[in-house]
Amino acid sequence: MPHRPRKIIIDTDPGQDDAFAILLALASPEDVEVLGITAVAGNVPLKWTSRNARIICELAGKPHVKVFAGCDAPLKRKLVTAEHVHGKTGLDGPVMPEPKMALQAGHAVDFIIDTLRSEPAGTVTLCPLGPLTNIATAFQRAPDIIPRIEQIVLMGGGYFEGGNITPVAEFNIYVDPEAADIVFRAGVPLVVMPLDVTHKAMTNRKRLEAFRNLGTNVGRVAAEWADFFERFDLAKYGMEGAPLHDPCVIAYLIKPELFTGRHINVEIEVQSELTMGMTVADWWGVTDRAANALFMGSIDTEGFFALLTERLGRL
Ligand code: RIB
Ligand code: CA
Repeated sequence: MPHRPRKIIIDTDPGQDDAFAILLALASPEDVEVLGITAVAGNVPLKWTSRNARIICELAGKPHVKVFAGCDAPLKRKLVTAEHVHGKTGLDGPVMPEPKMALQAGHAVDFIIDTLRSEPAGTVTLCPLGPLTNIATAFQRAPDIIPRIEQIVLMGGGYFEGGNITPVAEFNIYVDPEAADIVFRAGVPLVVMPLDVTHKAMTNRKRLEAFRNLGTNVGRVAAEWADFFERFDLAKYGMEGAPLHDPCVIAYLIKPELFTGRHINVEIEVQSELTMGMTVADWWGVTDRAANALFMGSIDTEGFFALLTERLGRL
């Protein structure tokens, strides 16, 4: 069977770590064909995430990628953002030029629906890197697309690691728990990159130097984004380095063998304010609830950074 690039839609709230994921995808045309990028409110409001997605495409030298603006608020709850992690623009660190490429005219949700209806069934993978508002809205508006999705590979949740926005909830799930509940119950083949994995994908001085030593503008900007992004985790966890959460999603598409996990049941807390947005992962199989997600637990960190650095070097 000839190796064909997987057709993907990246749904994103850039965010420095989202930027690494988008750069990795755009640097890997033999592995992934990016049909479009859909921005969602999350790390920063939609006007910033839809701007930032275009900045990243232009940085990659790919100004023809279709970028759409999507939902500007969660399904039910008030938007919670993370400027304290990503800075006011969401891409703080290096000063970046304003994007020249325009947003696509249509809404991101319509793009997701239209693409899944027009591409052959089972050939498009969704890669959500932020709150799941766009995805859940598409499912509500067009349930016929659900069985047409090849796979959803997302960054979100946590089990052994707990949470990063509350003691038990990870940001992407916490911001829109109702949307996450819709996605996790939809029956689409799901691969989840939780904090349990992404907190093992930490930058450090050596890895940042490897980005800088690429000697390219992308390498320099990547190192400066990682430098800025690690401040939060250093202050909060005392960790040296920044967890590169979102590129784990794209790395899985390119080299799934970098990751190991378990096919288990994962449900989302949407009732209790105390545990709102918690991914209740039945890692030990103590319930009879049906498995609905390949929930990752470990990563070959050196292999991940080798892949990421090599691919960034292509841009
Ligand atoms: O909790 C980490 C996740 O929330 C990452 O996707 C980060 O970009 C933010 O969206
Ligand atoms: Ca993100």
